[in-house]
Amino acid sequence: MTHGKLLALSDQHVAHAENRRITESLRPESEDDWLLVAGDVGEKFEDIAWALKLLSERFSQVVWAPGNHELWTPPSDPVTLRGVARYEALVEMCRGLGVLTPEDPYPVWHGGEAPVTVAPLFVLYDYSFFAPGTGTKEESLRVAHQSGVVCTDEFLLHPDPYPSRDAWCRARVTLTEERLAAVDPRYGTVLVNHYPLVREPTRVLRHPEFAQWCGTELTADWHRRFRAVTVVYGHLHIPRVTAHDGVRFEEVSIGYPREWRSRPSRSPLRQILPRPASGHAG
Ligand SMILES: [Fe+2]
Ligand SMILES: [Fe+2]
Repeated sequence: MTHGKLLALSDQHVAHAENRRITESLRPESEDDWLLVAGDVGEKFEDIAWALKLLSERFSQVVWAPGNHELWTPPSDPVTLRGVARYEALVEMCRGLGVLTPEDPYPVWHGGEAPVTVAPLFVLYDYSFFAPGTGTKEESLRVAHQSGVVCTDEFLLHPDPYPSRDAWCRARVTLTEERLAAVDPRYGTVLVNHYPLVREPTRVLRHPEFAQWCGTELTADWHRRFRAVTVVYGHLHIPRVTAHDGVRFEEVSIGYPREWRSRPSRSPLRQILPRPASGHAG
């Protein structure tokens, strides 16, 4: 048993100079602390590698789950890989740094009262968090285009060799479900995913049409089925804690400077376990 903590953050978006400085300021509280990084480190391959290298040198173990931004192929990036090939190159880069990814055996964290399996997930989205008043992907996307709320993924997140992002999502759901079903049933889990796994946290989005880029109905019962102690996610840029079926969900995003500047200042690192005494869900 270690005495470290399980800390988390997401949405560092290090292309922004101020967010880069936040990343440079991150330090563990003890040499045993782990850091869960729930995606959107950045867009350019070199930026993502810079941030993960720095964190891997400071924290005892870094665990990464990809966000949509890591999977973009920005026109200005010398790394022109797309889709699955880009994801695999990111995984390879992480392996060189000792950073764990959704492609590695899930590690067990022994710092708390009971061991927990820490599972970084990559399941993407399939547009099934439909826009209000719609019931199919096509209708939902049409409403988004009409209202002008269209995620940049539509232009920069290529699903190659899959025919669509939702097809890639379904493949990821199938293989991830098998991995999670094989976790030792004696252990609870900390599920780390860029998206919230359940739809409820997206209800507070200012633009409800955006929810279709925020997850999939296919994971709606995973927190119950796979014994989650906590679900860690980001992407919404709405940091908060909620409870669903009695399970704690932590949105741990930093977000863009214009977003965090308007919020009360707080530590960019969220303590997941041991659960802070003042922690509450609601
Ligand atoms: Fe983000
Ligand atoms: Fe995101």
